[in-house]
Amino acid sequence: MKKAGAKVEITHFGVFPTPQGVISNGRVTDPPKVALAVKEALSAGGIQGRDVCAAIAGGEVIVRHVFFPRMPREELAQAVRWEAGAYIPYPVDEANIDFDVIGTGNDSSDRLEVMIVAAPKSLVASHVETMELAEVRPLFLDIQPIALCRVFCDSEFEDAKFFVDIGGGTTDLVYSEKGVLRFTRIVNIGGNTFTEAIARAKQQDFARAEELKRKATLLETDEEQGEIYRDPETMEALEEVTRKLAVEVRRSIDYCNAQARVRSGQESAISEITLTGGGSKLNGLREYLEAGVGVKVTVGDPLANVTFARTSPFAEDLLNYGTSLAVAIGLAFRGVDER
Ligand SMILES: Nc1ncnc2c1ncn2[C@@H]1O[C@H](COP(=O)(O)OP(=O)(O)OP(=O)(O)O)[C@@H](O)[C@H]1O
Ligand SMILES: [Mg+2]
Repeated sequence: MKKAGAKVEITHFGVFPTPQGVISNGRVTDPPKVALAVKEALSAGGIQGRDVCAAIAGGEVIVRHVFFPRMPREELAQAVRWEAGAYIPYPVDEANIDFDVIGTGNDSSDRLEVMIVAAPKSLVASHVETMELAEVRPLFLDIQPIALCRVFCDSEFEDAKFFVDIGGGTTDLVYSEKGVLRFTRIVNIGGNTFTEAIARAKQQDFARAEELKRKATLLETDEEQGEIYRDPETMEALEEVTRKLAVEVRRSIDYCNAQARVRSGQESAISEITLTGGGSKLNGLREYLEAGVGVKVTVGDPLANVTFARTSPFAEDLLNYGTSLAVAIGLAFRGVDER
C-alpha cells in the first residue's frame, strides 16, 4: 500500500494458502513450510518490498489492562514486568512483554491505565524465524486485535465497537472504546468447527465438507445468488455451532457492558457487532448471530477505507477475499503510517 492523498492505495496484492498443520495455537510449528508460503504470496503479488508488518495471535497472547500510580516510563517498565507475572500463565523470563499507557483513571489523574501485552518468547521467535527464512525484514510484530481496530476505529470520538473475527480455528472477540483496545478473548470455535460439524453429520471427509459448507445456508429462505445447498442435517449441524458461538459472544458483550459501566459510571451498551474473517462468509451466519445475540450485526468491509484501481489484475480477487483481509490491511496501514 502507499499513501494517495488522504487515502491509502493498494498497489499490490498476493495470497497463498497456509499449508495444513503448520501453525498451532498461534505458534509456527514448521517455519520452513510457512516461509515458502510467504514467498509464494509475495511472488503471486509481484511484491518487491521486503519490509514486513506481521501480527501474532492465539490463546497464549495475553492482553490485560492494569492501573499504576503515575511514574516515569523507565520505572513503569519495571513495574509492568512485576505485575505481568500475575497475569501470564508462563514464567516472565520466558515472555516478551510490551505495554502502552492508554489513559488515566476517571476517578483520579494520579493513576495511569496501562495495556500490557505478553507472548511466549518462543512463539515470537517462531514468527521471526519464519520471516528470516522467507528473506523478509520484520518491521514490527503487532497483535491481531489491534490490527483489526486500526481498520475500523478511525475516530477518537467513536463509540464502543465490538468485533467478532471468525478465522479458521478460532474466533477473536475484540472490544474497543474510542479506538482503544479494551478487551480481547479467544473462543475455540472457528470456520473449521462448522466444516467438522458437517463432516460428522454427513459422514464426509473434511475437504468435501468444506465444499458443502460454502454452498450451505443457515436460512430457511435465502436470496443468495448461485447454487445453494439446503439440507436439514447440515443446517442442524451448522445451527448447533452457531448457537454455541452466540452464547460466547453474548457473555463477552455482557462483561464488556458491565466493565464500561464501572469505568464511566454511566449506562452504556454495545449496540452493534462488526463481523470479520473468512468464517463470517457462511451464508446466513450474520442473520443467525444477530438473532442469537440480540445485537445488530454487520459484516465489516476493510476495503471501505482504501482505494485501488478497479482495472488492476487483482481487483476481483481483492473483492472476493473482502472481509478476510481485515488484519492484513490493518497491518499495512501501520506500515504506511510509520514510513
Ligand atoms: N465462502 C465461504 N463460506 C464459508 N466459510 C468460508 C468461506 N470462505 C472462507 N471460509 C472459511 O473461513 C475460514 C478461514 O478464515 P480466515 O481466512 O479469516 O482465517 P485465518 O485468519 O487464516 O485463520 P485464523 O484467524 O484462525 O488464524 C475457514 O474456516 C474457511 O472455511
Ligand atoms: Mg484470522
